[in-house]
Amino acid sequence: TRKIIIDTDPGQDDAVAILLALASPEDVEVLGITAVAGNVPLDLTQKNARIVCELAGKPETRVFAGCDRPLRRDLVTAEYVHGKTGLDGPVLPDPTMPLQDQHAVDFIIETLRTEPSGTVTLCPLGPLTNIATAFERAPDIVEHVQEIVLMGGAYFEVGNVTPTAEFNIYVDPQAADIVFQSGVHLVVMPLDVTHKALVTKPRNDAFRALPGDVGHAVAEMTDFFERFDIHKYGSEGAPLHDPTVIAYLIRSDLFTGRHINVQIETQSELTMGMTVADWWGVTDLPPNATFIGDLDADGFFDLLTKRIARL
Ligand code: BDR
Ligand code: CA
Repeated sequence: TRKIIIDTDPGQDDAVAILLALASPEDVEVLGITAVAGNVPLDLTQKNARIVCELAGKPETRVFAGCDRPLRRDLVTAEYVHGKTGLDGPVLPDPTMPLQDQHAVDFIIETLRTEPSGTVTLCPLGPLTNIATAFERAPDIVEHVQEIVLMGGAYFEVGNVTPTAEFNIYVDPQAADIVFQSGVHLVVMPLDVTHKALVTKPRNDAFRALPGDVGHAVAEMTDFFERFDIHKYGSEGAPLHDPTVIAYLIRSDLFTGRHINVQIETQSELTMGMTVADWWGVTDLPPNATFIGDLDADGFFDLLTKRIARL
């Protein structure tokens, strides 16, 4: 089992990623969930993270609140995708499990200092503000990180929030720049791969048909999510971005990509937050990321459905 910290801004697709992780104790041990402002403000993302832990029947999971705004820019949210609460779709009760007192950034720093070096993987599913803040405040922890597997960026698929930028990177490009230059080995799930993880009607029906409440809630989440994306993806279904990160930790054989150099645009307003990925190796810049380009979508949904069925 890999020890992981999930850094997240739930978000329906974040929620499904958290459920997949909590359903997979033989593969991943969730040391904590750190919430960040992104899809919706922090007070909602930390609450949503706890709602999801309770939905999974794992109220003992530790949830921490982190940064409530990007390092240098104003917060941009995405209620138009995720709804007012960030988790619109299913009707779920308010959480009763506690929010931890410790700040998420302090939890990340402390965990990387106390766990054996090279045994903790960070899984960012939102803007990279918490991770970058931890690296800036405690540079000694950087070399202790086993790997960062994150959802963000795009290359051939270019952008979803501006013509050239993906949401997570766009919201905090300065933080993304710090993480991409940190020297930690990165595995990146860009839109190029997540736009192949489409929740088609049969796949959504498979979630809905699962016994118990969780499959039904997942189907309601992906239904809601789809409302926004339908004009873009037609009848195929909406992309399920964030669970690809957790699926990679369980079944990396479902994914293929290239080890390449990736830099973040932080200067130009026009292309702010673009992930400049040297996919064709036209520079001599050293590779810093495994940039995933393809996945076995049926294998991915099969894994997801089987694991959600356990909850
Ligand atoms: C990313 O942005 C968010 O809206 C999703 O949760 C995902 O992490 C996709 O661009
Ligand atoms: Ca997210």
